[in-house]
Amino acid sequence: MNRKKLKLGVFIPPRITEVEPGAVHHAGIGRIPRATQRDLMSLLDSLDGVEVHKDLNFRQSFIHNGKIYTDGFCLNNLDIYVWYCEVDRNVGSYDLEVLKTLARDIRVVVDPFNFEVGLDKYLAHLRLSKAGVSVAETVLFDHNNIQRVKGVLEKWGRAILKPRRGKFGKGVMLIESYPMLRDMVDYISSTTGLSPDKAYMLERYYDNTIDDWVGTTIINGELVYGYRKRTSKWVPLGGGAMKVYDANEVGGEVEQCDVTPEQEREALTAYRALGCEIVGFDFITHKGKPIIVDENTFPGYYEDIFRQLNKNPADEFFKLITCELNRTGQAIA
Ligand SMILES: Nc1ncnc2c1ncn2[C@@H]1O[C@H](COP(=O)(O)OP(=O)(O)OP(=O)(O)O)[C@@H](O)[C@H]1O
Ligand SMILES: [Mg+2]
Repeated sequence: MNRKKLKLGVFIPPRITEVEPGAVHHAGIGRIPRATQRDLMSLLDSLDGVEVHKDLNFRQSFIHNGKIYTDGFCLNNLDIYVWYCEVDRNVGSYDLEVLKTLARDIRVVVDPFNFEVGLDKYLAHLRLSKAGVSVAETVLFDHNNIQRVKGVLEKWGRAILKPRRGKFGKGVMLIESYPMLRDMVDYISSTTGLSPDKAYMLERYYDNTIDDWVGTTIINGELVYGYRKRTSKWVPLGGGAMKVYDANEVGGEVEQCDVTPEQEREALTAYRALGCEIVGFDFITHKGKPIIVDENTFPGYYEDIFRQLNKNPADEFFKLITCELNRTGQAIA
């Protein structure tokens, strides 16, 4: 039987490090280094039975009656679209709207609906918790109901107040008592007249030793590596507690580390529950038990660690794309 060629659309721009013509086109939104991106594009050229359309920038599109057009090309005519780049992560952003609109018609990887859940720590924790993953317990509350949280906080002892869409550990705050929470929330509503994050999210605080902190990177259901942050990325939280924190928001300062079988099991269950094809989960250890405290829709990407483990990042992305092509091929056969 003569099977029709699958149409694959890709937007995986390279990370721009120097001033170069590509910087204008991609506006510095690439996430993977240029050499790796080039290797990946060559691997895609070697695909048989697939019509590959590269460089289809969904961020520079418009939507006409649910059809996405970029450079005169209609993305909805593809069978599968794979993207990996920085997006406007704000609620209701155009970038996310495009991807979600497209995903109504064709397979989109990374899945934008799941990606959006992953951006919100409250929704992501909830998804994991429903799947039985060992993830931090949460409370979400409106500032008008602050007094109703008192009982839970007293039971927990200490809590972590966290921006739902935060990063670099910024704004992650240790709450040591109910009065402390009440006064902080009252201060914010007295000065701003609102809850800046719509609702406040609290997590149970779990006593842990920061040396046991482990970050993981997962691509296509494979835990590619674990890593830990160097001491330069640790800061005190108060009350003897520590957290991972990146004051200058530059990343890096990591080293490869082992992942226990239990962490790996939890990470892969979390991966399946969240449904983001590329993702990372951060673990702390409390009383010997791993607990996920963070989901990263752009997981730690460290070329050094890939190399150290004799892995090739271009291969990992390629494996993801070929798996998705096979699945899509079977679904539409
Ligand atoms: N529930 C918790 N109990 C104890 N420590 C916590 C808890 N939640 C977070 N921490 C500490 O605070 C750090 C920062 O929290 P979190 O990872 O959620 O923030 P983030 O802004 O997403 O950080 P990143 O940019 O590193 O992903 C964690 O890595 C951990 O060290
Ligand atoms: Mg994070």
